[in-house]
Amino acid sequence: MKETINQVAQQIKAKIGGYTPKIGIILGSGLGGVAEAIENPVIIPYEEIEGFPRSTVSGHAGRLVVGKLNGVDVLCMQGRVHFYEGHPPAALALVIRSYKKLGIEKLILTNASGSLNIDMGPGSLMIISDHINLSGCNPLVGPNDETVGPRFPDMTYAYDPELRQKLLKTAEQEGINMRSGVYLMTSGPNFETPAEIRMFRILGADAVGMSTVSETLCGVHCGMKVVGVSVITNYGAGMVADRQTHDETIAQANEAGKKLQRILTRFVREI
Ligand code: HPA
Repeated sequence: MKETINQVAQQIKAKIGGYTPKIGIILGSGLGGVAEAIENPVIIPYEEIEGFPRSTVSGHAGRLVVGKLNGVDVLCMQGRVHFYEGHPPAALALVIRSYKKLGIEKLILTNASGSLNIDMGPGSLMIISDHINLSGCNPLVGPNDETVGPRFPDMTYAYDPELRQKLLKTAEQEGINMRSGVYLMTSGPNFETPAEIRMFRILGADAVGMSTVSETLCGVHCGMKVVGVSVITNYGAGMVADRQTHDETIAQANEAGKKLQRILTRFVREI
């Protein structure tokens, strides 16, 4: 595993020339706009990196975009790899650890998710304050390499309080409303049943999705500062009588995605 991490990091390093990103951004479904705002990008399709998992989801481009966002070097993952695609949890760990090896210190995670909170409708942006892992997947399972991180990593401040505060402030400066909430991860790939949605609400979650938590666990374990944002595309199953049309969902995700792009473009300069 360690050798593969080093090899993956070396291959990326060899391709990105003079860029030395310390900020990594992982883009969720339909949120590719941020990658488009990166100037003078070096684009690396995952299949050109030996040992790197492939993205199989349509709508996920499956490439790294490295370059300048608002003058700041960033490494952006356009199209993440999900547990539900059949990747072993170790593959998810490899991605994050290779970024760490490359020099990434701060990880910005984004996702599209369903709302569990009636006050937070489609099109809302939610800063992840904490998470609940109900995915059945934990990429830290297995022998622990103490040189990467501790066996029992603390998750009290999994989502870095300082970065969250700065993100909130940046959103305010852009005149965009953001709230904080708890993100719950399922393995997917199916959407939830109404009974599951009722249970998740009782558990204290505000949004549900199929990603992010595994990346947070790996990032925190290897000493990165992590911050996460959910773009709410719909209410959880059974929460509202009129299920919105797919076109409405896409339109709302696009609108919120544009706002997120404005926020992140400014945010990378603040951190
Ligand atoms: N559930 C899980 N994942 C999601 C949803 C949802 O309702 N919406 C977008 N991603």
